[in-house]
Amino acid sequence: MEENANFWSQLNRPIVGLSPMDGVTDPVFRTIVAGCAKPDLMMTEFTNAEGLCHGAEGEMSGLVYNPIERPVVAQIYGANPQAFFHVAQLVCALGFDGLDINMGCPAKAVSARGCGAALIGNPVLAQTIVRQARRGIQAWAEGAAVDDLYARFPNAPWQTHIPIETTRRPIPVSVKTRLGIGQIVIREWIKHLLEVSPAAISIHGRTLSQGYRGLASWDAIGDAVDVARGSGVPILGNGDIASLEEARRRAYEVGVDGVLIGRAALGNPWLFLKVTTARPPEGTSEYMQPIPLKKRLRTAISHARLFEKIRGRARFSAMRKHLGWYCYGFPGAAALRSQIVRVQNSTEVEDLLAPYLTGA
Ligand SMILES: Cc1cc2nc3c(=O)[nH]c(=O)nc-3n(C[C@H](O)[C@H](O)[C@H](O)COP(=O)(O)O)c2cc1C
Repeated sequence: MEENANFWSQLNRPIVGLSPMDGVTDPVFRTIVAGCAKPDLMMTEFTNAEGLCHGAEGEMSGLVYNPIERPVVAQIYGANPQAFFHVAQLVCALGFDGLDINMGCPAKAVSARGCGAALIGNPVLAQTIVRQARRGIQAWAEGAAVDDLYARFPNAPWQTHIPIETTRRPIPVSVKTRLGIGQIVIREWIKHLLEVSPAAISIHGRTLSQGYRGLASWDAIGDAVDVARGSGVPILGNGDIASLEEARRRAYEVGVDGVLIGRAALGNPWLFLKVTTARPPEGTSEYMQPIPLKKRLRTAISHARLFEKIRGRARFSAMRKHLGWYCYGFPGAAALRSQIVRVQNSTEVEDLLAPYLTGA
């Protein structure tokens, strides 16, 4: 039961994962990314622990995944340790490879409730949440009753990827966080986290008040690496990384075990493609791989079709932003974008893109 429990320790360094993005890295996009170029790990969009305990449908859909994403981690946010105890068991039963606790979200709706990045200001609660999540996982690994879980979470996505009893393994609990709330306090903050030994800590190099403004401070991420040295807890850096090559360079320079990349993957599911040529052509990067326009647009169509199949036409408007991200950098792209962000379904997408896909 114990073997393979902690996938983090088995990944090659530097680890390069897809950073979770609410409203973007849904199961459809993650499936497309896995098909184009698989990162070392994927995380779900953040999902609310208390909402899951109340059976909220929207939250439950956050726990859907496709087995080709593995290792796949459920990211959960909240401020109620008891909710984490129960949700951790659900996450195990659904067959996730890990549970990540969001201690980094800056959104007012989240931080005003004491969740996300607000936990940086409440280390005792943050530690209690990690411990309760781990207690839930332990209870599950030791045989907590499946019927109790079905009764507590009747509308969970119980589509069984794997027989439920084979998932009784103690999955790792990790944390994703920021440098501080108003100021950078990562040296002190990370000590509190290290006291509860998460399986990994991912650090977005900005404070809560910064939101997404300014540049991520990789120097401050380096400070966290200093403090964590010798703890055995892998540290992942995050923020403003544009390519796989840059991720590897940063990991080397700053000494992190890995990197999460988010926004650079928008409209670019090939971000994690590593081109291995025996000898990279002079003056080119081993990792640069220009994706031909037709391939990009064909992928946009596949993405739209899969979105429609999984999430339905009624929700198709949530696909439009992805379509806008795929259509850039060619003559007529701006005009095409203004049309494509109004489409109602995948057939309209195919019709609009057809003129760009003719010829060899
Ligand atoms: C639209 C959007 C949604 C996000 N949602 C989440 C989330 O659900 N959970 C999380 O931990 N971080 C979330 N983030 C933060 C990213 O994971 C990442 O930390 C941040 O974008 C910096 O990395 P990047 O510069 O590579 O994008 C989100 C970011 C964006 C832009």
